[in-house]
Formats: sequence, structure tokens, C-alpha cells
Amino acid sequence: MLTESQIDELIDRMTPAEKAGQLTQLFSFTLPGEEDLPADVDAALLQLPKMVAAAVESGGTGALLFTSDPAEINRLQRLAVEGSPLGIPLLFGFDVIHGFRTILPVPIAMAATWDPATIERAQSVAAREARAVGIHWTFAPMVDIARDPRWGRIIEGAGEDPYLGAAVAVAQVRGFQGDGPGDDDRIIAGPKHFAGYGASLGGRDYDEVNISDSELWNVYLPPFAAAIEAGAGNVMTAYMDLNGIPASGSHWLFTEVLRDTWGFDGFVVSDADAVRSLVTHGFARDMTDAGARALNAGVDMEMAVFDPAFAKLPDAVAAGATGEEALDRSVRRVLAAKARMGLFDSPYVDEARAPKVLADPAHREVARTTAERSAVLLRNEGHLLPLDPNALTSIAVIGPLAVSRRDILGPWVFAQDLGETITVLDGIRARAGAHARVDHARGVSVVRRRYKSPFEGLLGRAQRDPEGFDEATEFEHAVTLASNSDVAVVVVGEWQDMIGEAASRTGIELPGRQQELLEAIAATGTPVVLLVMNGRPLDLCWAAEHVPAILDIWYPGTQGGAAVANLLFGDVAPGGKLPFSWPRSVGQVPLIYSHTRSQAPENQGRRYWDEPSTPLFPFGYGLSYGTVEYANVVADQSVISVHGTVTVSVDVTNTSDTNADEVVQLYIHQRNGTASRPVRELKGFRRITIAPDETRSVHFEIGPAERRYWNAAVKDWVNDTSTFDVWVGGDSRADLATTFEVAR
Ligand code: NOJ
Repeated sequence: MLTESQIDELIDRMTPAEKAGQLTQLFSFTLPGEEDLPADVDAALLQLPKMVAAAVESGGTGALLFTSDPAEINRLQRLAVEGSPLGIPLLFGFDVIHGFRTILPVPIAMAATWDPATIERAQSVAAREARAVGIHWTFAPMVDIARDPRWGRIIEGAGEDPYLGAAVAVAQVRGFQGDGPGDDDRIIAGPKHFAGYGASLGGRDYDEVNISDSELWNVYLPPFAAAIEAGAGNVMTAYMDLNGIPASGSHWLFTEVLRDTWGFDGFVVSDADAVRSLVTHGFARDMTDAGARALNAGVDMEMAVFDPAFAKLPDAVAAGATGEEALDRSVRRVLAAKARMGLFDSPYVDEARAPKVLADPAHREVARTTAERSAVLLRNEGHLLPLDPNALTSIAVIGPLAVSRRDILGPWVFAQDLGETITVLDGIRARAGAHARVDHARGVSVVRRRYKSPFEGLLGRAQRDPEGFDEATEFEHAVTLASNSDVAVVVVGEWQDMIGEAASRTGIELPGRQQELLEAIAATGTPVVLLVMNGRPLDLCWAAEHVPAILDIWYPGTQGGAAVANLLFGDVAPGGKLPFSWPRSVGQVPLIYSHTRSQAPENQGRRYWDEPSTPLFPFGYGLSYGTVEYANVVADQSVISVHGTVTVSVDVTNTSDTNADEVVQLYIHQRNGTASRPVRELKGFRRITIAPDETRSVHFEIGPAERRYWNAAVKDWVNDTSTFDVWVGGDSRADLATTFEVAR
């Protein structure tokens, strides 16, 4: 491994242009075959492979993204190591968001497990597969708090809550990096997008963000702080303006907060083209200014599709807009990351090993159990679930999403194997086919976006209806099939290109005629199990009153169908919980459980005259097949000092005759102090499985870290004296309470 002084010697030998090259990351697509290329493909894109090779050979780039074929990675690496003047190896980055070959449930689904161990294991599989093909670094986890379901990227985060968000962020960083990203089978994690990206105006992706200091420190920054504390090696910038300053040019974010306050010692990368867009924002005068200001703000590396602004850094140095020492400092960070990954000693990937790792059956096992643990049971009237396969002779599986190999994986997947992907229909057939007739009807058309996804074409085709499909006929067929079956499993949701980046929408209704289909199927009288395939809350108001069983399966990934079948037939019990408050309609947005107490709190649920202002399903909510009862919530001390820690315990008893899977949640409320505090804040949770009649005692510690908050009046962290209410239970409405007091 290169030592610090060897890195310094190397930097001494570099020209400003070579330094700028090390600070540049270029897109390096393997373009799809001609038939998959959109007709309007940008001609410049076709030149990309040539441009990339030239940049690698000249030392004009130090990192690439989007190459994931080990032979291609080695070819490009050889160009850098053997063909460029300084022979510095390349760092290969990739969006390994929820799996590489083995696709795991989408990130919001992983958050719904409320189980850091499950999440860490899942992302360790993603890291192992990515590293096996030669990828060193993932642009994940996305730790942006999201409180607006119109924003498509809500799917990539952990939902609305900073405490859950921080725990999920840490679990992912640990999953990717293990004890260190240089270890075997590990990669660098890059929490993103620093910071505030989730709060875009109107939920419109990339639009400006205005967040108060108090919200920034108390809500949006904690998951980043936790990810840094957990050792994340990289951080990515955000596209939008934060309180009037483009985040990617914010000295406050990248120097004052990230480095000076949190002590981050990794490297910062810009989001794709975000340095160039400092000009678009009307912030930088030109590319030279943009490059200099991003670098001066603390951005070490620019990710760029074409014409990087950082290529102008030598001009900026010559003009005095930045100093060569700023360049050196960033180059040092980038070279340190390469050294940490062992690239100076061993730059190439073992091409023969890669397919073996990708084929590892243990990875599929992890994908399946993660999907099982992420599902959230929203309703189960009359114990319709689990289904008894021996008591059923016919099952109708309905909806186009039930048979789509691509959609069940969700967005942000590139190296998946569709052939091995298990759809909902496949899973149900495999599990129940020996006992029951399992038939499928699509019922409705595939719905297309009004405005095409920018990912369409380059990253796969949008779904289409089969040849000769006629919606009217098919709708009738689905209804008839349901009426002739013992149970109807209806899969509704959004197609994968309707959620994710550049996939914001104005509403949360089920797209197309899915609602109409659902109502027609329910009207047959056949019991309906509704499976929701989604990355944002959708309008389930009608279903929540009329459909007996609703299971949120998210986009469960490669093994999704198998996981769903295991859940439906009771081989495993659902135990996931919602990581956001599920609104009734978009008019309620943003809707959070952790609002402050205000005038007329008795009317909190009636803030609108036309509809309740409560959520359809609360934050933290989710059922299981078993039932539990909470009792004996006690704090071990009634009075503590501001430095003190109180331990709260609770007994949880399984009152059913089947295993119960429960996430025990603890919420606190500070009654008074130097600021108004939220009515409830999550400050502890634990997922447990309890056998019938068993009682488990669960303990939580509430110390200064759980009680402190950032106070806008004093512009600092404070720990107030106050009485604190504590609630423990199975969701954010928990009513079993105790109190303790923090005195001087
Ligand atoms: C833009 C997205 O905002 C970011 O999350 C992603 O990592 C990069 N593109 C690279 O694909």
C-alpha cells in the first residue's frame, strides 16, 4: 500500500492537468445493442467509449462509472496502469443501490425491515458481487430524508424519520464497507446526496430546497452524520439549491459541516454534472469559475458525462481562482482512497472468479429473506392470511405486475438476470401449484408515463402489453377468473419507471384502471388479497375499507415471488413496519408523525374540513400473523441529570398461537424547554420474534444523545431539563406510557 509520503511524492511529480484528471470521474457506458438504443440517441453518446479511452490514456480521468464487466474493467485499468504517463490506477464506481446481479428489495423496503442486521447482510451481498466484477465504490446509500411521496426518490431512502434513517444508513455503510472498504468483498460507501435533496419544492426532482436550520440539523443531517461516524469513505453532493446556494458549491456543507464539524476524512464526489450545473444555476460565471468554486467548497472529484469543468482547474489555478494546494489536498484524498482499496498493489480483478461469486446461491437466500422481512401487512380482516394451500382448489392471480420480471426488481438495477427472477405468479405456482389451480389474468394495460423516463432505452425498455392485448376483453376475463376462484391475489402498483430518479408525480392514485379492476374483482365476492408493488405510498383509501387483506411487498427483487409466496402461505410471518406516515391523499403532504404540538391540539386530526388530517396508516405500523400485548413499561429512574441515562423496559407477550414478529418501538416527548419539541420522536426500536405464550423483556436506553436537539434560538445543540413522556408499542400511536424527569 502506498504510504502518505509516497502519495506526496507522486503528487509532486504531477502537472496541474494530471491532478485535475485524478479529480475527474467520467461515465463509461457499455452501450446496449442497436435494437435497444432509442432512435433519438445522442450521437455524442456513441463516441463515449473512444473519448473515455483517450482520457484514460492521457491521464485525463482518475475514475470511471457504469462499467461493470470485469474484462472491460481490466482493459480500461490496463490502459491506465500501463498506458498512461503516471500509471495511476482507476477507481471504478457504480450505482449498486439494492444489489448487483442478485437484486435485493429496494432501499425503502429494506428500511421497512426495521432490522439493521438484515440490511447490513443484504448490502454485504451487493458489495461482494460488485467487488467480484471489479467495482470499488458504490454511490449508496441514499440517506436523504423524504417526506413527500410525490418525489420519486423516496424509494431510495429510509423514509421520513431521522432516527430510523440514521440506523439504516449505518447498517448500509457497514454492509458495503465491513471493517474497511479495502477488505475482500467490500467496497467504498458513498452516502448521498449532501444535503436536503429530499425536500424539493412540490416533490419535483431537482427543484430547489428551503429548509430551516432547525430541520436541517434535527432531521436532514443526522443520517449523514451517522454514516460518516460509521466510516463511510465517500460523500456525494446534491443537485439542487439549498437555501439559495447550490449544494454542490456550498462551502458550508462540504467544509464547515462535513470536514470541520464531523471530521470526514474521505473524498467528496459531485453528483453527475453537478459542477457544470453551477453555471446552469446562475451561480458560477463559466466552467472555470464552476470548477474553482466547487473545489474551494470542498468537492474533491467531479462526476461528469462530457466536458468536465474540472478540466479547467489548471486555468483556474493560473488565474488565481483557486490554489494548487487545494488541488493537491483533493488529489491526496483520492489517491488515499485508491491506496486503501489496494489498487497500487493489485489493480486488476480476477475475471475467472467473478461468475462464481455472482452465481452464489447464498446471495439469493439473502435476497429472499430480506424481501420476506421487508413486507408490511397493512390489513388482515378475519385472518384471511395466511392462506391454507390445502383448503384452496383455485387461486386467481391478477394484474400485469404479477408477471413482470423487470418491474418486480424496481428501478436502479443494471446487471440483473431476468431469467432467474421469480415473479409473484411464479412464486405462487411453485408454492401452491401442487394443491390448487393457479391462473393468471392481466386485467389491465401496462401504463406508460406521459413524459418518458430519461433512463428508458439506455437502461432497459419500458414494459409493453403482449401482442394482441385488448384491455376490455382482458378486464372481463380477470373478473370472470376471480369469480370462479377460491381467492383472488391482485397485484397493483406502479411500474418501475414511475418511481426513482426523475420519476416524480402529482398524485398517488393507482395508475391506469387498476383501481377500477380492484373494485370489480372485490365485487365478485371472492376474497381478495391485495399485494402492493410500490416505492411510495399509493392511494389505498378504498382498499383499506373494502379489501380484507393488504400486503405491501414493495419491489422485492430477484427472489420476490418466492418471498411473497412464503408470506402468503404462512411459511414466514410478515413483520415489516412502515418507514413513513401513509397519507390518504397528496393534499395532506407533508404528513409526519413528529410534528410539534400547536394551537387546538384536540383538533389535530381535523385540520381540514373535508378529510381527516391523520394518516391512512401511521408511521411504524404493520401487522403480523401473531398478536402481541405490551405491559409493564417502566423507567429505572424517575429523576436524572442532563448527563444521565434512563433505561426503559417493557414486556411483550405473544397472545396468539403462532409466532409473532414485532418491531418494538420507543418514542419520547419533551414536555417543555427552550424550544417546542415534536409530540413524539422515535428513539429506539428492536425487531423480535416471540413464540406463542412467550413474554420478552425489551430494554432501551435514553441518554443525552437521544434527548439532545439543535435549538434555533441558541444555534447549537442543547439538552433541556424537562419531564419526558415515553411511549412503547408497535407503532407511532403506542399508548403504553411512562415518564421520567431530567433535572439540573
Ligand atoms: C445521478 C443521481 O442523482 C445519483 O444518485 C447517481 O449516483 C448518479 N446520477 C450516477 O448514476
